[in-house]
Amino acid sequence: MNKQVIYYPEDAVLRAVKQFETPFFLYDEARLRENCRNFKKAFSRHFPNFWPLYAVKANSNPEILKIIAEEGFDFDASSPSEVWITRKLGKTEDFAMSSIGMFTGNYNPASELKYAKDAGYLLNLDDISMIPMLQEIGVSEFISLRINPGVGKATIESNVFAGPNAKYGIPFEQAAQAYAMVRDMGVKRFGIHMMTGSNVPIGEKNYFGDIIKKLLEVVADIKEKTGVEIELLNMGGGFGVPYRPEEDSLNMEEIALSVRKAFDEQCEKYGLKEPHLMAEPGRWITADMGFLVSRVDVIKDGYKKFVGIDASSNDMPRPSIYGAYHHVSVIQARESSGGKPETVSIAGKICENNDQLAQDRELLHCEVGDIIVIHNCGAHAYSMGHNYNGRLRHAEYLLRIDGSFAKIRRAETFEDLYATILS
Ligand code: LLP
Repeated sequence: MNKQVIYYPEDAVLRAVKQFETPFFLYDEARLRENCRNFKKAFSRHFPNFWPLYAVKANSNPEILKIIAEEGFDFDASSPSEVWITRKLGKTEDFAMSSIGMFTGNYNPASELKYAKDAGYLLNLDDISMIPMLQEIGVSEFISLRINPGVGKATIESNVFAGPNAKYGIPFEQAAQAYAMVRDMGVKRFGIHMMTGSNVPIGEKNYFGDIIKKLLEVVADIKEKTGVEIELLNMGGGFGVPYRPEEDSLNMEEIALSVRKAFDEQCEKYGLKEPHLMAEPGRWITADMGFLVSRVDVIKDGYKKFVGIDASSNDMPRPSIYGAYHHVSVIQARESSGGKPETVSIAGKICENNDQLAQDRELLHCEVGDIIVIHNCGAHAYSMGHNYNGRLRHAEYLLRIDGSFAKIRRAETFEDLYATILS
């Protein structure tokens, strides 16, 4: 049993359900800060100038972003609204590297690149076809390019972000040509980026080291063919977290060491000046700090037993989109808890049969009014939510280190849902 997966702050959940209407997301500040520190520490040990970014798409609540910035992270933004919200958090000088981070979109029009550039983001271009846009928006001194190193890995096929079927990045065979193009436009400083998959399986211990080796080969090839020296290497995000109790946790120390070895080997082999290392995790920082807390409304004992809760897949779509597994805990609300564990599916209220947040799971016997806690809901959870069936999205609370709660987002209202209608 992996304690990291089965843990939830039970006392805080019990206090919270007495005070707040369910469902809601509960985020644990202590865990969030610990994740930030552990990530930074693992890499900074081997790379003293390590530059960590946080992938805003994973959880973009500004109170969460503020904590992550306090822990010394800048941001990886992928859209204008992510740029906008991070700009509201503070002045550029407040950020770790006096830049606010890197903008990595894909298929962006020039207007979006300009917006990010004007906000102080370092642009990371996804394709050779985007390079001419720099003329239109003004050539920056510093540009990064996203390379597709030809291979990628993820737990879910649609989260493989490199290789021939991925829509992202410049094929590595075109890399030298792309850097020559930006150099000829007047760019003076260069970065390289890859993002090869999200939630890379934890068992793939050598994956990050191996892929960095490949990227450094590309760096050497670029230098040889164009004379361009890469100053910044962003290894992307994608660090997997355990979702199932039987899965191990990723050993970040081991990964950082394998990246260190890859740098030593390749820089020596190709005579490269060592680039400055960056990474941009999302899930690893926020997934396990978040819980979706809901209450049982209806129990249906038909062909199968369904436990209907007040949260639905519009709050947390990962099971409905990917068939993803999230661990579930039950808190029995009755005076005398009891009943035999049983196999049930946890259903939401959306008119889609994939609105089942857990399927055929052996859980403590549930009755109406019991509390269902869904784990690993701090990343790619609220941020992927939607309003199908006119369902509203719910509140977010932060469990502060002193045990108090802060409401960091209210629940939506019907008026919010129709706020964009003009008549
Ligand atoms: N950097 C870039 C350029 C990305 O596209 C992503 C994720 C990240 C960093 C952060 O990846 P992470 O460390 O969180 O794996 N919605 C899916 C994941 C899609 C991730 C998209 N890009 C899910 O729920 O599993």
